[in-house]
Amino acid sequence: MMLQPVREITGKDRDQWELLWAAYNAFYGRDGASALSGTVVETTWGRLMNADEPVFGFVFENEARLLGLAHCVFHRNLIHVANTCYMQDLFTAPEARGKGVGRALLAGIRVFCKSRGVDNIYWHTQTHNATARKLYDDVGQNTEFLVYRWAI
Ligand SMILES: CC(C)(COP(=O)(O)OP(=O)(O)OC[C@H]1O[C@@H](n2cnc3c(N)ncnc32)[C@H](O)[C@@H]1OP(=O)(O)O)[C@@H](O)C(=O)NCCC(=O)NCCS
Repeated sequence: MMLQPVREITGKDRDQWELLWAAYNAFYGRDGASALSGTVVETTWGRLMNADEPVFGFVFENEARLLGLAHCVFHRNLIHVANTCYMQDLFTAPEARGKGVGRALLAGIRVFCKSRGVDNIYWHTQTHNATARKLYDDVGQNTEFLVYRWAI
């Protein structure tokens, strides 16, 4: 059972999802010339809609308007039997911030994970993202791991 008004994403959310997803990507500089390609957007949407993919989307809806989204990926974890949840994206529409949307999305993912036997959620954020860190420090524990990336 999901927390209301957070729910799993469905096919009818496509247009509003795409706007929120573009705004989230723009937050990370992926806009204009460096925006995600149509192929990536289509592929991601297709995976979110495919029950066989370990990729899940959640939205916060108010009066038919989507005010926020979160995506996560379940994957194996070699020190646990159960899968682990990686929350890849969390975004609240700018005009809806500070009203509990982000916190509700996190809580919704928690409920969803529990219902699937997944008892660990982790995510990344940038050290300077003070707003997100205020929420994250309240909800989770800072692992103090650094993330490295190696483009191949
Ligand atoms: C981070 C983000 C998702 C928070 O969403 P939100 O819906 O505004 O968050 P909430 O209203 O649920 O607030 C949760 C907590 O965050 C903190 N917070 C939220 N907005 C804040 C602000 N403008 N200034 C300071 N703290 C703030 C508060 O501690 C708040 O706790 P409270 O509920 O006790 O007041 C949102 O600001 C966002 O989308 N930012 C841009 C994208 C981003 O940074 N995503 C996360 C990347 S990892």
